[in-house]
Amino acid sequence: MRKSLVLALLLSMILVVSGSVFAEKAEITIAGGSVGQELELTKEAAQMYMEEHPDVKVNVLDTPDLATDRLGLYLQFLEAESPKVDVYQVDVIWPGDLAEHFLDLYNYGAKDMVDDHFQAIVENNTVDGRLVAMPWFTDAGLLYYRQDLLDKYGYDVPQTWQEFERTAKAIQEGERAAGNQDFYGYVWQGDAYEGLTCNALEFIYSNGGGTIVSPDKKITINNEKAIEAIDMASDWVGYISPPGVTGLAEESARKIWEAGNAAFMRNWPYAYPLGNVEGSAIKGKYDVAPLPAGDSGKSAATLGGWNLAVSKYSEHPEVAADFALFMAGPKVQKLRAVKGSFNPTIKSLYQDEEVLEASPFFGSLYEVFTNAVARPSTATAPRYNEVSRLFFQAVHSVLTDEMEARTAIEYLELDLVDLLGYEIGEPRQP
Ligand code: GLC
Repeated sequence: MRKSLVLALLLSMILVVSGSVFAEKAEITIAGGSVGQELELTKEAAQMYMEEHPDVKVNVLDTPDLATDRLGLYLQFLEAESPKVDVYQVDVIWPGDLAEHFLDLYNYGAKDMVDDHFQAIVENNTVDGRLVAMPWFTDAGLLYYRQDLLDKYGYDVPQTWQEFERTAKAIQEGERAAGNQDFYGYVWQGDAYEGLTCNALEFIYSNGGGTIVSPDKKITINNEKAIEAIDMASDWVGYISPPGVTGLAEESARKIWEAGNAAFMRNWPYAYPLGNVEGSAIKGKYDVAPLPAGDSGKSAATLGGWNLAVSKYSEHPEVAADFALFMAGPKVQKLRAVKGSFNPTIKSLYQDEEVLEASPFFGSLYEVFTNAVARPSTATAPRYNEVSRLFFQAVHSVLTDEMEARTAIEYLELDLVDLLGYEIGEPRQP
């Protein structure tokens, strides 16, 4: 036998035995978020993967912060069937709309892993029996509050939106009288994008106004409770929230909050560790709670979160899928939970001491994460993103005083009937 043949045989035996190297050198790209610490943590995890797989190079592509803009970028790659991105970080609302572009991860070893993850997310990511994305982290809307200011003015953490409004107003007046003219009661995500859909759904659902379109495919948005909730939020613009709240997203709200210029903020868990860094104006002064309840008597948090999908157009599907499963595995999820407060989708990590120490609310608000209300992405797929755009545009037009809530919602209902062809129905009470 020739020497080279012996070498080749040996090499292939090593490949099979180790299972950790691929038959070819590969370069893959993951398109990921860069909100908060996302980008650096994705790079750190990619580095860990490359150390275990010296034959693979992983590039991390930075993408726009706003989910709606990110989707626009992804669609450019996907519709062109581009192999430039192999792994996509996809929003929990996208599997139904984008399924046709992604591989079935069940064909790449995901079967052995899915039982460790929250079942609802696995189901969300399963389209026609195909697992089109691996759960990566979950999200839910939270109320960030300044404990020092509640103490200073003698308030408890508000439980209802009415109490909340009064508390936010009183603290705002007090802080302004004390000299901070830039101070506001409440910052949230009011710009015309997916984040507004999340905020508005929380106002509406907590008020008993349903989920825009119900899980059984009825258009339920045109109801008194929904109109009342949108009116409530619209009254806050320029009152307890800055007039510019209609242009705020997660990161811009966080900046105001971290500068010490807001009593309350609505945001996702990722903002939790960021205000506690050395030199922060709010270090050690805040905590998180469930969002206030509306008339339904229940608090509502919109379910968010991100998943990892492998493009059908990848030139290295095996490597890309292996990388996606590694990223979604316990080691990387724990790293992200400890350093960045990204909620794991792996159930057992909620019992992990280091994880709970870094983000105690993962334990105390566990129910908020497991009972979060889903946007109607499954009921409206593959048209969810059009539904959401119509919805946030309608709500935004009310926030900016271009339309009355009632009129905006009536038009929205007509548009949704046109788009989806579904019947009109009553919202389900939570
Ligand atoms: C967060 C959520 C995501 C949501 C987005 C809206 O990133 O995880 O699900 O769509 O915010 O801004």
